[in-house]
Amino acid sequence: MHIFQQQIGWFVSILPTILYLINFYKKYNLMTPTTKEIKKVTTNTLQKMKAAGEKIAMITAYDYSFGRLFDAAGIDIILVGDSASNVMAGHTTTLPITLDQMIYHAQSVVRARERSLVVVDIPFGYYQSNSDIALASAIRIMKESGGNTVKLEGGEEVIESIKKIVSAGVPVMGHLGLTPQSINKFGTYTVRATEEVEAEKLKRDALLLQEAGCFAIVLEKIPAQLAKEVSESLHIPTIGIGAGSHCDGQVLVMHDMLGINTEFKPRFLRRYLNLDEQITGAIKQYITDVKSKDFPNESESY
Ligand code: KIV
Repeated sequence: MHIFQQQIGWFVSILPTILYLINFYKKYNLMTPTTKEIKKVTTNTLQKMKAAGEKIAMITAYDYSFGRLFDAAGIDIILVGDSASNVMAGHTTTLPITLDQMIYHAQSVVRARERSLVVVDIPFGYYQSNSDIALASAIRIMKESGGNTVKLEGGEEVIESIKKIVSAGVPVMGHLGLTPQSINKFGTYTVRATEEVEAEKLKRDALLLQEAGCFAIVLEKIPAQLAKEVSESLHIPTIGIGAGSHCDGQVLVMHDMLGINTEFKPRFLRRYLNLDEQITGAIKQYITDVKSKDFPNESESY
């Protein structure tokens, strides 16, 4: 009995140390390092971020290597945008890219993604004609690419398609303002909704998209004050590009923000790198090294 009491006393005396160690291991994720769970960004995460006032960071990517870099850097959303038509394929508009090509780009990004939410654009011609075609396109994207959600452009005109896609269990991101698939209607890439009639339609469309079940809306190239009003009127997040600082998040095309594409210089664009200059310099140096027989040297040979 005496020994038993001694053991209990000893255990009680070391209990605080045990609890401290458990907490320490938990706090620094040392419990099961090989099974550490990665917290994936979902559409629910984005709603919570809006509610908490935390801004959402989104960027485009079209292949495995950049998808991997952006995901590892901690980006919230990777958009496999139909801007692939411009920056990957060299077209002057987003119109020519096909659904098969979008699926190919999305598959490559999805293979790289561990944490970010992947949004895939439904390209021009694969949802406008009717809601059955829109649903079929969304289903192909989800089944064949493994992306998490789709994005499509427009308001009232595409509302039936959005409802049908959402009711099939596919989350939809809307896109209002300067919608590049309508460039032939606009005739210019200038800022949209500066006039009251267009601004009022945009506000109505934003509410319709929210009612139809969109989980977020991209607002492209519209006045900052209008984007602020729209963002404040919605419970779903807005993601701005050229729409000022009051949107719930921001999106940029990777080639623009990394300075790969230097001809595109809109006011809204912030360049974080000058890859055009750096890549050109590296390639020129490589050519010089090959031609002067400097490359490869002995340590670079077998
Ligand atoms: O395709 C794209 O890159 C886009 C962004 C401009 C939002 O839709």
